[in-house]
Amino acid sequence: MSHLIAPSLLAADFGNLARDVQMVEGSEADWHHIDVMDGMFVPNISYGMPVIAAIGQHAEKPLDVHLMIEAPDRYIGHFAALGAHTLTVHAEACVHLHRTLGAIREAGMRPGVALNPHTPISTIEEVLGDVDLVCLMSVNPGFGGQKFIEATFNKVERLAALRQSAGAQFLIEVDGGVGQKNAGQLVAAGADVLVAGSSVFKAPDPVTAVSNLKHLRQEVA
Ligand code: DX5
Ligand code: ZN
Repeated sequence: MSHLIAPSLLAADFGNLARDVQMVEGSEADWHHIDVMDGMFVPNISYGMPVIAAIGQHAEKPLDVHLMIEAPDRYIGHFAALGAHTLTVHAEACVHLHRTLGAIREAGMRPGVALNPHTPISTIEEVLGDVDLVCLMSVNPGFGGQKFIEATFNKVERLAALRQSAGAQFLIEVDGGVGQKNAGQLVAAGADVLVAGSSVFKAPDPVTAVSNLKHLRQEVA
């Protein structure tokens, strides 16, 4: 399987949201990445249900929803109703992670689990058979446009090795500071889904930026 590209709408122009969603639709991107922040789990508030409903009106491609919120169980039904395809919760935000992942699947979505840069892979070893996606944060979550943490390459390699030895099937997603500079090395390490906010939406030509990530074209210095 070729890797997937999920542009993060956090970096979109919210005054022209429909236009930016349509740009993603018309590009080689595979998913829309949707970042929900509550100002508690992370020190920032992004957007919520009405904005996601508006995105959904213009989106045909799957909605990859990344919840950076405390106690996400409260909203599983809401995100199912909004048409989320994958619903990713943070391991650090879930006291009963196994139950939460089961509830997401029960609600008809694909369960994903995200790990902050400091969180060891071993914390989710017992649920690797229960998830469709593991998101490795390559920045501390909360903001777009941050610098990629280089230790992520090794973390992706270790997770890919664990997936193989466990015979598990989940996708490995990398989120934060991803662009043409590191995309090739991430895919080589075992990443299946690349989330890219700034490197797509702040590019002079976002459609070409997506294409470059999809085909792993190297940046010309
Ligand atoms: C960070 C978010 C990311 C972010 C990525 O908390 O989860 O999805 O939007 O943005 P860039 O690609 O600009 O780092
Ligand atoms: Zn994200």
